Amino acid sequence: MANTILVGAQWGDEGKGKIIDFLTERAEIVVRSQGGNNAGHTVIVGGTKYVLHLIPSGILRPGTKCVIGNGVVLDPVAVAGEIEGLRAKGVSVTPDNLLISDAAHLVLPYHRKLDEAREIAKGSGKIGTTKRGIGPAYGDKISRVGLRVADLLNPSVFAEKLAARISENNAILSTFGIEPLTFENVLSEGLSAAELLKPFIGNTVVFLHEAVRAKKEMLFEGAQGTFLDIDHGTYPYVTSSNTTAGGACTGSGVPPHRIDRVLGVMKAYTTRVGEGPFPTEDAPISDMLHGMGREFGSTTGRARRCGWFDAVAVRYAGMINGIDDLAVTNLDGLDSLATIKVCTHYRLNGRLLETPPMDYTQLASCEPVYTELPGWQTPTEDIREWANLPKNAQTYLLKIAEWSGARLIIASVGPNREQTILL
Ligand code: GDP
Ligand code: IMO
Ligand code: MG
Repeated sequence: MANTILVGAQWGDEGKGKIIDFLTERAEIVVRSQGGNNAGHTVIVGGTKYVLHLIPSGILRPGTKCVIGNGVVLDPVAVAGEIEGLRAKGVSVTPDNLLISDAAHLVLPYHRKLDEAREIAKGSGKIGTTKRGIGPAYGDKISRVGLRVADLLNPSVFAEKLAARISENNAILSTFGIEPLTFENVLSEGLSAAELLKPFIGNTVVFLHEAVRAKKEMLFEGAQGTFLDIDHGTYPYVTSSNTTAGGACTGSGVPPHRIDRVLGVMKAYTTRVGEGPFPTEDAPISDMLHGMGREFGSTTGRARRCGWFDAVAVRYAGMINGIDDLAVTNLDGLDSLATIKVCTHYRLNGRLLETPPMDYTQLASCEPVYTELPGWQTPTEDIREWANLPKNAQTYLLKIAEWSGARLIIASVGPNREQTILL
C-alpha cells in the first residue's frame, strides 16, 4: 500500500472506521487531520465493538502508530476519557502508539455551550450539529483567538488565555440566556486532562516527515464526508473543517506530492444525519434499514436519514478528492430488495444535471433521476470472495463504481473485519 488518503464520499458514516481497520493490517501510521469528536468511527474486532471519536482507528492494531494532527480540534477532556475507555477494554494506548500535535486547537466548554445555544436559537433552521463545539472551536481558530494543545503544557499560560476567553464567552452566552461558566472549574478540568495527555504531545509534523523519509506507509483517516466539507459541502449544513482530500495535507503538514492515492469510502446506499438537502432520501428505505436495527448515529444515537445511492454526488466527490479507488460498504443492507434504484442525474427546472448545484436551496429542489437495477435477494454477509457474490450484486457494485467514476477495490458485507471482499 502507498500513502493513502481515505475520505468519505457521501455525508459521513460511510463505514470509514471499518475500512481503515481492514487496511491497517498493512499501514504503519494512521493520521487524523481534521474534525474532532463529532466523528464516530465504528470498528468491530473479535466481537468487541469500539467507537473511536478522536483517536485514529489504527489504535486497535498493535504496532500501528496513530497521529492526531494539527488540523484536528481536540477536546482535552473527551480525548482523555477516550484513552481511558480504550485502556479499560484492554487496548494499549501509550506515547509509543499515539502522538498528539501541539498545534491542534482545543475544544473547550464554552464552544460546546455556544454550539448548543446557536442551534436552539436557529429553531427549525438548525444545522443538526453533534453539539460537540466543533463550529465554535474552528471559528476561534480562524479568528486567531483559539487555545492550542501546546497551551496545556504551560499551566500559567493556559490559565491566562483561558480567563480571557471565558470572560468574552460568558458575555456572549448571557445573550442566549445561558449560565456563565466558572473559570476555576474549566481550568481544573483542563489541567487534569493535560496531566494525562502531556506524554503524548509533540511536533507531529517532524514525526511524519521522518516517517516519509523512512518510506513508512501512511493512511490518512478522513472524518465526516465530502458533502459535509466547509467549502464543498451543502453549506451551511456542513461541518467546520475540510473533510476532502486536501484537508489531509494542511491538517498534517505532509506535502501533497507525498500522497500516492485517494480511496473513497461509500455506502451501497446513502445516509445523512442532521439537517440539510438530501436528494435521494426515501422513507421506505429508511424504515427498512431502521427496522433492521441499522443506521443509528455512532456519536449521538440519532436515526440517520436514508436513501438510494446517489451517483451524481459521488461523481462530484471523485472530482474534489481525486478518488482513485472505491470501497463500498453495507452491501448487505440491500440484500432483501427485488429492485434497487440508483440516481444517475438530477432534474432541476426541467434541465438534467450531471453535477450537484452548490446552492443548497437549488439542491433541495433537485429531483433525482433514477435507473433501476435488479436486486439479488440473497444474504451476502457470509460471502468472502468476489466470485461467490450473486451476479446481480456484482453488476450493482460495478455499475455504481462506473457511474461514480472510480475503480472498485473493496466490497464490505458486514461490520466485522473479516466481512470484507478484496477485488
Ligand atoms: P464511519 O463514521 O464512516 O466510520 O461510519 P460509522 O461507524 O459511523 O457508521 C457505519 C456503520 O456501519 C457502523 O455501525 C459500522 O459497524 C457499520 N458497517 C460498516 N460496514 C458495514 C457493512 O458492510 N455491513 C454492515 N452491516 N455494517 C457495516
Ligand atoms: P463521521 O466521521 C456524519 C454532521 C452533523 C451535522 C453537521 C455539523 O463519523 O463520518 P458538527 O457537530 O460537525 O458541527 O455537525 O455534520 N456530522 C456528521 N455526520 N458523520 C460524521 O462523522 C459527522 N460529523 C458531523 O450531524 O449535520
Ligand atoms: Mg460515523
